[in-house]
Amino acid sequence: MLTAPEIRALKGQRPLVWMTAYDVIQAQVSEEAGIDVILVGDSLGMTTMGYDSTIPVTLSDMIHHATMVRRGAPHTMMIVDFPFLTYPDVPTALTNARRIMQESLANGVKLEGGHDVIPVVDALIKEKVPVIGHLGLTPQSVHVMGGYKVQAKTSESIARLIRDAEELSAHGVTAIVLEGIPDRVARFVTDHIDTPTIGIGAGPHVDGQVLVFHDCLGLSPHVPKFARPFADIRNIMIQGLQDYRQAVMDHSFPHNSETYHITDNAWNHFLQEYQSSEPGSSQ
Ligand code: KIV
Repeated sequence: MLTAPEIRALKGQRPLVWMTAYDVIQAQVSEEAGIDVILVGDSLGMTTMGYDSTIPVTLSDMIHHATMVRRGAPHTMMIVDFPFLTYPDVPTALTNARRIMQESLANGVKLEGGHDVIPVVDALIKEKVPVIGHLGLTPQSVHVMGGYKVQAKTSESIARLIRDAEELSAHGVTAIVLEGIPDRVARFVTDHIDTPTIGIGAGPHVDGQVLVFHDCLGLSPHVPKFARPFADIRNIMIQGLQDYRQAVMDHSFPHNSETYHITDNAWNHFLQEYQSSEPGSSQ
């Protein structure tokens, strides 16, 4: 398992490959595929719980899913998202980080924001909790952003993002997720800090990439512009279920080889006993 210092040390050495996961099977296949870091993202609100944003996701939801992921991927670094409004101040963040780390056995936490979250970042790192930052399109701010829009497109917002990244880096975060920003901004940030940047919708010039599991494998009904489905799992699943339905309807499932059997002897013995115990039989 990679550790937080090893993640930082890999900047400039090789690309880092991160993946989200929300349950045991997704964790197992991610670990088997050699993913560097599994992120239990609050995107589970959309991918797994059917909400249209991350806002309704609770701390208990995150811990519930993170414990499944930990069981499926015991040898992979696992980062768990702080969900909406669970890190508004230092005492609340520490209480909630303790629950995440102790109950799910996470290796670190991720939070959204820059300058404003620095006191929380400092307190967590002081208490030995590895922290991942998240800048750019931060989904927990969907209502103030006015939707899921690409960020850092004006001089002022680009400068703010760079300042935030520099500050997070200087305060010792393990990595910074850059989401939904132009490629040139991502490259500039990546070149100006010594902390690894992990892009999602941030172009190729970052230190690593993260994708949502469902987007990466073609499980989502709609794949965002920045994602690439590397498999077509949704259609494979639909085809499999249609084949199963057809086989039940035409009685070709289950086959003899898919059925448990009993010996003639055992069955005849049962029948004899059963019949002789019937009311009216002479025992
Ligand atoms: O919630 C999440 O899955 C994330 C990734 C998209 C980076 O934050």
